[in-house]
Amino acid sequence: MILTLLVDLHMRKELVAAGCLGLIITATGTLAQKPGDASKGQRTFARCVVCHDAQSTETQTDSGPDELAGPGLKGVFRRDKLRNGKKVTEENVRAVLDDGGRGMPAFRDILSEDERANLIAYLKTL
Ligand code: HEC
Repeated sequence: MILTLLVDLHMRKELVAAGCLGLIITATGTLAQKPGDASKGQRTFARCVVCHDAQSTETQTDSGPDELAGPGLKGVFRRDKLRNGKKVTEENVRAVLDDGGRGMPAFRDILSEDERANLIAYLKTL
């Protein structure tokens, strides 16, 4: 689209080249689906550690040292199912993060789109 527009405008080679570069960058982003930044996500995870940790798979209340309520998220993307019984897919994890439920707060209005995408990228590294 950008390309067509640019071609229509001036047929200037350098603009077309710039357009191509833009398309390549956009295409790379699309291939990686939501391109979250895991290291930024790790920082945002500070908002989650009151209820989750990234080092265990246990529900903190089960192990008992404190009042943390959420399951440990180590390897969450390598599990079969989420606590809510749904299959572990990016979409379903995203739904938990966005909409919460069963003790998990909804973050749709608390964190930006980017922050949530970064968190998903981070969770994938656990
Ligand atoms: C107030 C405590 C609390 C906070 C804060 C919280 N969570 Fe949760 N979270 C939970 C609980 C409880 C569950 C389990 C819900 C269930 O049983 O379905 C959960 C579930 C999840 C799951 C699904 C895990 C699974 O196996 O079902 C993910 C992923 C998750 N939280 C990510 C996050 C992220 C990322 C943040 C920070 C932005 C966060 N949570 C903040 C309490 C919390």
